[in-house]
Amino acid sequence: MKLVIGSDHGGYELKLELIEHLKERGFEINDIGCNSTASCDYPIYAKALTEEINSGRADLGILVCGTGIGMSMAANKVDGIRAALCHDVFSAEATRSHNNANVLCMGARVIGAGLACLIADTFVDTPFSNDERHIRRLSMFSKI
Ligand code: RB5
Repeated sequence: MKLVIGSDHGGYELKLELIEHLKERGFEINDIGCNSTASCDYPIYAKALTEEINSGRADLGILVCGTGIGMSMAANKVDGIRAALCHDVFSAEATRSHNNANVLCMGARVIGAGLACLIADTFVDTPFSNDERHIRRLSMFSKI
């Protein structure tokens, strides 16, 4: 599975911890920036990450900012993106299984690295259920 990850300055340090953790697990992970803790604009990185997903160059993405909220709002503007803000393991599992989420968003000012890595593991390890009711509900997104 190919992963893509991005952050703004608020999520930069946590992003590095997530990359190290996921690489140790053997995942290929493309970091689309930012590249320092210098102040920057999170929509730029949200957009860049969605392009990796929609092109098929990555299967799943992770976006980190201070709260995760701005990243999730920006990513969900893009057709084909189902970005889920998760700060607990239950939600990470449910959003893969029920919503077929393709982007996980987290806030570095909300949770620590240990929990963030566990949430990321759960997200990438949980398949979509493929249940008919979930497919039907997701197909309704395009009509909203
Ligand atoms: C940056 O200060 C902060 O606004 C950003 O990281 C994020 O939390 C936005 O939603």
